[in-house]
Amino acid sequence: MSEYSRIKGVADIFEPESIKYTQMEAAARHIFGLYAFEELRTPLLEFTNLFRRSIGTETDVVQKEMFTFTDSRGREMSLRPEATAGVMRAAIDGGLAREGIVSRFYTMGPMFRHERPQKGRMRQFHQINCECLGTQSPLADASMILMLLAFLENIGVPGLSLRLNTLGCRECRPAYIEKLRAWLAGRDEALLCENCRQRKNTNPLRVLDCKDDGCRKLLTGAPKLADNICPACREHFSTVLNLLEKSGVCYSLDDNLVRGLDYYCRTTFEVVSESIGAQTAVAGGGRYDGLVAQLGGADIPGVGFACGMERLALLMREPSRPGHVFYIAPLCPEALEPAFMLAESLHRAGLSGEAAFSAASLKSQLRKASARGARFALLLGPDELSANQVAVKDMRDGAQCVLPPGEAAEWLAARV
Ligand code: HAM
Repeated sequence: MSEYSRIKGVADIFEPESIKYTQMEAAARHIFGLYAFEELRTPLLEFTNLFRRSIGTETDVVQKEMFTFTDSRGREMSLRPEATAGVMRAAIDGGLAREGIVSRFYTMGPMFRHERPQKGRMRQFHQINCECLGTQSPLADASMILMLLAFLENIGVPGLSLRLNTLGCRECRPAYIEKLRAWLAGRDEALLCENCRQRKNTNPLRVLDCKDDGCRKLLTGAPKLADNICPACREHFSTVLNLLEKSGVCYSLDDNLVRGLDYYCRTTFEVVSESIGAQTAVAGGGRYDGLVAQLGGADIPGVGFACGMERLALLMREPSRPGHVFYIAPLCPEALEPAFMLAESLHRAGLSGEAAFSAASLKSQLRKASARGARFALLLGPDELSANQVAVKDMRDGAQCVLPPGEAAEWLAARV
């Protein structure tokens, strides 16, 4: 292994794979723009207490997955493990998390979680994240979900399904948690996995979405959230479901969908794929009505989601690499500078391609032009230089002609 090898769980993303990321970003800007969302770019680095306070001290993300360090002034900082906390902090700082206004933000970029890497699970991964602040309306929940589905349709990923649940609110959930805690206390602890033996005391809701077979089996008789929420939460959720049905969306209800971050209340959702191995969730989100107040802002509600770009990339079609228009081939050292100048004039005319930086034989240059996927090879040898011409070869059919270099841009532009 080289002394300068890549860190485990982070990736270099070359073309054509990186083209998928560009396509996702372009689709996100287009679709979210239609829904009046604005782009917000937040820092990768924040004070650690922002994540502790928002994501929750008992979550896996905060307990064991953050990349945290202490700076030279003794302050604890972390690379962001998700975007929501930073967006809330930015909205509060920027005066955009206020009562009476609805703010909509999208953000995209790298996130960092120290998880065990596997297919679809990285330590540096990328999210596309959306947040809508300032409304309690179930219309906002439904609109977010429809926008997410429109985005996923736009990038053309097949075989996805939507799962939904409601987590209740600060009025009704505490009583449910106590009910669940009491129910769990009456079960045989040995039937729970090691994590859930601890969670049943610290964060009993998380026991609900444990993937361990033993825990799942034990939970079949557990009290259900859906049967224990207040009438206001019930009405909120049924409005969301009704709007989705009226919009022709298929979904399934999942009583155990609690999500791994502590800020959620009411509607939660995930979009899953069965074809990317164990890491099935390509997107997840929900409502987080107490979060802004918890971070020192006004008591305004919010709802949002994030998509995992690595997981979506696994499902996207292989993109074709864009071919270039020209490859300028100097056949003698004297042609290097004219080739350079010609390439510059073609770039300024909006044509893509390159001029070789060294002279070579015709055969070798044509091989390179073909390897670079150029549509036209522009040949500059001693004969062309003395006649002030450039020879142009169509790499598709081999047809050849000569032109004055000053006419090359117009000639090429008319043919691509
Ligand atoms: P999350 O479910 O933790 O939610 O992450 C959202 C998505 O990010 C996941 O569905 C998955 O596709 C992707 N993801 C998470 N961890 C990894 C990983 N280690 N490697 C690759 N992909 C990963 C959140 O982050 C919330 N902040 C979403 C949200 C926004 N809720 C409200 N607003």
